[in-house]
Amino acid sequence: MEKQKINLPKILDKRGNLSFFEYPNQLPFEIARTYWIYDVPGGEVRGSHAFREQQEFIVALSGSFDVVLNDGENEERFSLNRSYDGLYIPKMYWRKLENFSTNSVALLVSDRSYDEADYIRDFEEFKILKNG
Ligand code: TYD
Repeated sequence: MEKQKINLPKILDKRGNLSFFEYPNQLPFEIARTYWIYDVPGGEVRGSHAFREQQEFIVALSGSFDVVLNDGENEERFSLNRSYDGLYIPKMYWRKLENFSTNSVALLVSDRSYDEADYIRDFEEFKILKNG
């Protein structure tokens, strides 16, 4: 699956709404790990790395932020601001999370356990690995 925003099911209810994602219906991978980013001070940037193998799916559970994806040549910005939208990111994209609104919460799920060896933290190295 290509990188893309995925509109999640939304069960409207006057008691409060409910959304979800599950493999294989909305997610193209089985979840190995869940983490979340919160209490981000204004102007801070998270990420700024790529993953050799890991795929991710990101939801703005609360508030809003931007995910900037770079494939080594082109950059694309995805604004996440609805708790029923997710962003699927395949492996080997340089990614940054920025423009966090006050009290925003980013939920991230991954197909892998945490492994520092899967990170590429140098953009020049990323471009060489991606483009040869
Ligand atoms: P990192 O992935 O670099 O943060 P971000 O990309 O969101 O800016 O992770 C920051 C630190 O947290 C890093 O030292 C390792 C630790 N960490 C874990 O121990 N487990 C995890 O699942 C994640 C995502 C990070």
